[in-house]
Amino acid sequence: MSKKKAEGTNLLYQLISEARAYDDVIVMGRGDPDFDTPAHIVAAAKNAMVNHHSDYTPPEGLLALREAIAERVKRVNNINVDPATEVVVTNGGQEALFLMVLAVLAPGDEMIVPEPNYNTYADSLAFAGGVKVEVQTYAEDDFRADPADVRAAISDRSRALLLVSPNNPAASVISPGDMKEMLGIAIEKDLMILADDIYDLFVYDDFEHLSPASLPGGKERTLTLNALSKAYSMTGWRLGWVVGPADLMARVRELKAAISGGASVISQHAGIAALTGPQDAVEMMAEAYRRRRRLVLDALDAMGIKYGLPQGGQFVFADISFTGMDSGDVAQRILTEQHVLAYPGSAFSKDRKDYLRMTFLQPEAQLIEGLERMKVAMRDIMAER
Ligand SMILES: Cc1ncc(COP(=O)(O)O)c(C=O)c1O
Repeated sequence: MSKKKAEGTNLLYQLISEARAYDDVIVMGRGDPDFDTPAHIVAAAKNAMVNHHSDYTPPEGLLALREAIAERVKRVNNINVDPATEVVVTNGGQEALFLMVLAVLAPGDEMIVPEPNYNTYADSLAFAGGVKVEVQTYAEDDFRADPADVRAAISDRSRALLLVSPNNPAASVISPGDMKEMLGIAIEKDLMILADDIYDLFVYDDFEHLSPASLPGGKERTLTLNALSKAYSMTGWRLGWVVGPADLMARVRELKAAISGGASVISQHAGIAALTGPQDAVEMMAEAYRRRRRLVLDALDAMGIKYGLPQGGQFVFADISFTGMDSGDVAQRILTEQHVLAYPGSAFSKDRKDYLRMTFLQPEAQLIEGLERMKVAMRDIMAER
């Protein structure tokens, strides 16, 4: 029986599994920061274990953590929420996005999704029976989602608009002007907004991130997710949240209770330390990403590879159309021949077979080595053409 070619999220897991087999692999694919979780956060988790904080928590999470989240979204995003009724702690951003989609979309409802986008939105939408309506964005516009295109995509089945800013994988940031326009359209057409702020602390140059829920008329129609995964280098701790208006959050809480109950109590204690403790490690990591982004962009420029300028996030979405090959095949060759893991654009969108997503979540020396190896792989591919 011939092996079926993996696609989407399954293709990514297949590549990750192969990468594990190589001792000298350089991982520029998966969004796992290389930094250790800051020590005071680890200490808080140890303390929770030693002091027998082992009981179930409420499905919505510990009140002290919800208060810390409410304080954080006020301080960073200018979103006002009541920790008692408008915050639900989740098992990472992944569960948060699933809960948001399930809370808002009924079978047959349409969600407008600027593409390319984080692949599991399509997965969760499929489980909810919702319909994805794509709005395309382009590298030459640095993957800007044009509000006029969003308006044109609206039908009488439209229920929600997904705004991931900074975006994964395209690394675009929705400008404040465009964000206000997007909200205006949502208000006029009575759409819900699902806002994914997971990369909000990583914005480059003079670009600016604005949360739609912070704008007048925004909060009542917006569910906003975030997580500790990226900002605190805590991907495996599985801690995130959804915030939004109390009526919708009651539904999110109900779903959370039914699906998994409260998040790990140990991780929740760690989360309180992360949000209320010193933030210097977050700034140190953000500064490192700024330097690494420059390094990767300079290397791509030297190779003559085009990309949309990463305005935020932790990725570069690079155009490899010059190879004439499907990005899945290019990613496979780079991995098998050079032991460098980069993600194929086709895993994020069927229309992005010409792109590779590269992360800059490795130390600079590793990134330089990874880019050198990639250059060799590209040269070999081109020599065969
Ligand atoms: C845009 C976006 N949203 C949500 C998630 C899921 O976050 P987590 O790793 O906390 O589950 C990710 C993970 O990469 C992401 O890129």
